[in-house]
Amino acid sequence: MAGEEENKRLFEFERALKTRVVGRPSDGANEYLASIDSTNNRLAALAREGAPEGTTIIAREQTAGRGRLGRAWVSAPDSGLYMSTLLRPRKDISELPVITLCLGVAARRAVQAVTGLELGLKWVNDLVLNARKAGGILVELPVGSKSVATGQSDNKALVIGIGINIKHPPGELPEEIAERAIYLEDALGDGTTIDTVELAAELCYQIESIYKRIEADDQAILLDEWRAASVTLGREIKTASGDLEGTAVDIDETGALLVKTRDGTGTRILRAGEISIRSQDGSYS
Ligand code: ATP
Ligand code: BTN
Repeated sequence: MAGEEENKRLFEFERALKTRVVGRPSDGANEYLASIDSTNNRLAALAREGAPEGTTIIAREQTAGRGRLGRAWVSAPDSGLYMSTLLRPRKDISELPVITLCLGVAARRAVQAVTGLELGLKWVNDLVLNARKAGGILVELPVGSKSVATGQSDNKALVIGIGINIKHPPGELPEEIAERAIYLEDALGDGTTIDTVELAAELCYQIESIYKRIEADDQAILLDEWRAASVTLGREIKTASGDLEGTAVDIDETGALLVKTRDGTGTRILRAGEISIRSQDGSYS
């Protein structure tokens, strides 16, 4: 669903791009939509039909935005950037966490470039500010996608979904996020408005920059950047299941989190899943 306003935004977005790949598929493949269930769903469907690398979907609203583990991502109209972009890496994708961490670095750089705000990165996919969640990343592998070149089934398509909260929606926030969410314009707090289209174009630029490094197997420097921006390392954490408590000490080259156990039994490697971080008052959030 795209009207005049969306067409205008698509035009501005494409004009603002500084990339060669991300956001630059062959003509006409990008979409700027008024409303969609989820930009990741839409892009996965296009990927299955063979959409070219770089195809980018942006929506002004999502009615069924998703986070990890099937959780809902609240996506009120014109309140955030809801964007998905398609990558078709040439190398095998075995480690999604490391890609997610590198995308966090890209999102942080983009937000800093456009707003001056410095996001913190919480393992594995959260963008945080003032201990609240400002955005998140959802990387998915669409099942049964086809390669454009061969028309054959291709398991290498990656749908990169990024959501960033920009403008507080009118009225009260849904209960599940009222205490946890932060909107970048509120964080700026000086009446400055953030241009969603500009942020989208900058994000594409930063995604392309990290993508080049990942393709060249040269992401170590990005992981160092992640470490420097991390709000997880050095903190006491526990897993959602409660079977592991300890201090997050580092990440490894696959993006896994290394946790020194509280009971002193050694260091455990956490590959995915959910963690809570202990706050100053001793509670876990
Ligand atoms: P973890 O903190 O361990 O990463 P999470 O609770 O953040 O896990 P995710 O799947 O990463 O879980 O993100 C989805 C969660 O984010 C939802 O359950 C909800 O609590 C919260 N959420 C949903 N929409 C928004 C939003 N627009 N801004 C901030 N937080 C949101
Ligand atoms: C998370 O924190 O769990 C990830 C949230 C990811 C939200 C983005 S918004 C664009 C894309 N479409 C979705 O349905 N989800 C991602």
